[in-house]
Amino acid sequence: MKRIGSTILILSIFSLHCLSQSAIPFLKRRDTTTQLIVDGKPFLILGGELHNSSSSNLNYVKPLLAQFAAEHLNTALASVCWDMVEPREGKFDFSLVDGLIKAARANHLRLVLLWFGSWKNGVSTYVPEWVKTNQQRFPRVQRKNGQSLDMLSTFSQANVDADAKAFAAFMAHLRLVDGVARTVLMIQVENEVGNSPESRDHSAMADNALKMQVPTDLTDLLVKYKAELVPWLREKWEAGGSKTSGTWEDIFGTGDDPDELFMSWSYARYCGQVAKAGKAKYALPMYVNTAVSTWQKAAPNKVGVYYPSGGAMPRTLDIWRAGAPAIDILAPDIYNFFDERPAEYHTAWNALFIPEMGRDESYIGRIFYSIGQYDAIGVAPFGIESVPKFAEALGKSYELLASIAPIILANQGNGTMGGIWLDKDHPKKKLRVGSYTLNLGTSRSYSSTTPEYPVGIFIQTGPDEYLVAGRGITVGFTPETPGDPIVGLVSVEEGKMVNGHWIAGRRLNGDEILSGHGLRLDGDYTIQKVKLYRYH
Ligand code: DGJ
Repeated sequence: MKRIGSTILILSIFSLHCLSQSAIPFLKRRDTTTQLIVDGKPFLILGGELHNSSSSNLNYVKPLLAQFAAEHLNTALASVCWDMVEPREGKFDFSLVDGLIKAARANHLRLVLLWFGSWKNGVSTYVPEWVKTNQQRFPRVQRKNGQSLDMLSTFSQANVDADAKAFAAFMAHLRLVDGVARTVLMIQVENEVGNSPESRDHSAMADNALKMQVPTDLTDLLVKYKAELVPWLREKWEAGGSKTSGTWEDIFGTGDDPDELFMSWSYARYCGQVAKAGKAKYALPMYVNTAVSTWQKAAPNKVGVYYPSGGAMPRTLDIWRAGAPAIDILAPDIYNFFDERPAEYHTAWNALFIPEMGRDESYIGRIFYSIGQYDAIGVAPFGIESVPKFAEALGKSYELLASIAPIILANQGNGTMGGIWLDKDHPKKKLRVGSYTLNLGTSRSYSSTTPEYPVGIFIQTGPDEYLVAGRGITVGFTPETPGDPIVGLVSVEEGKMVNGHWIAGRRLNGDEILSGHGLRLDGDYTIQKVKLYRYH
């Protein structure tokens, strides 16, 4: 009775915050891309991930959320830690989660919550005391020499069951307190999983599993999606004769590669079971994040040393696809070697979401690139609360992107959008966007200083019309369709988007364009609309 009474009270407190129920956020395939649908419409996460411990105390996190909102973020990524929500087995305390949601709502922010369960960066520092101190019931990874590590083993059903039970309780609570207002958009399951410093777990349970046949869920997927497999995996499988049965070594050869595939399968299975248990209570989109920064092109015999073995790496995405169907997105955390990563994770079946990225100004350009070129459903530099200068710069770029977000979202998957950054090593770029190639350069105005990282996003809005947003760039146009070869400007207008409406500013001509044939986006962030014509 007491329990029913408190449930009703919680429900009514949270329900007062919203007037009507909106549909649960979900992912929707559209043309060549996938979109995140929130409140029935595509949504662009302009986010920031809080430092790991920031959400462990409400007094600490509240001003940070206010700061995020002032910096034009629309979403905060915040951790929810197993040890704090289930301090005693079966006794849950979700007061922090409730406080976080309330504070986010007060600042008109959405949340993506990160379940720091069995692992955070491969180790098990966030598991509750009753798990940490009972090694017999909750076995750990073992090294070759028999020494245990501070990492729960993926091969123990007791481990996965305990985590899944706690996660399911968390998701059930979330549905109760947020199933109407939908402040929480997505859930990250665990954090940067993987085995290290060796390429696999050497416990007896792992040794036994390695001797087993590769599960048919995986071999079936290899056969079914052969044409779209990551080339490295397909080549490895074909080199071994495209076998559909056998052990990991039978099918994928020897060395540390099969260890990595075997561990990827095991982590995928584990995270997939945790996600499935949570989704049974409340089916928000769920993703895993992966430490790709130290990948170093997967040097031979360095798996586990250069990077944790078993995360959803660029070369093991298909293993995760087969092993964890309840996980909706495989996401990269990108701190370096940025150029190639978005393309690797934006696939025919995977949406690009970047839950962590670096936090110097060059990353603002990477945001334009990820959103403009690869239809990212969202981005979130890590720990911006400790770099105020960067947070301010990020805020300015988010303000611009938020104002044109409806146009960005309407053009995802259409081939009518592009995005770039320039820097001193790449002062010029060419980019095909729709029916023109854009010739991009660095603007050197007499009226303003050139920013260190010029950026731009380009959207074709009509047969000969573009919307360009950014700063510090020049834009020329080369036609890619039959007709007259030379491109002129009919008109150029600067302006702003306010609540989806274009508010025109100056009409640009003379010194404010590139002598009749191109645009210059000087000074701070700006939006220009251009109409082109062609002659000979
Ligand atoms: C990656 C992890 O996923 C984060 O939780 C955090 O530890 C950052 N690294 C720190 O750079």
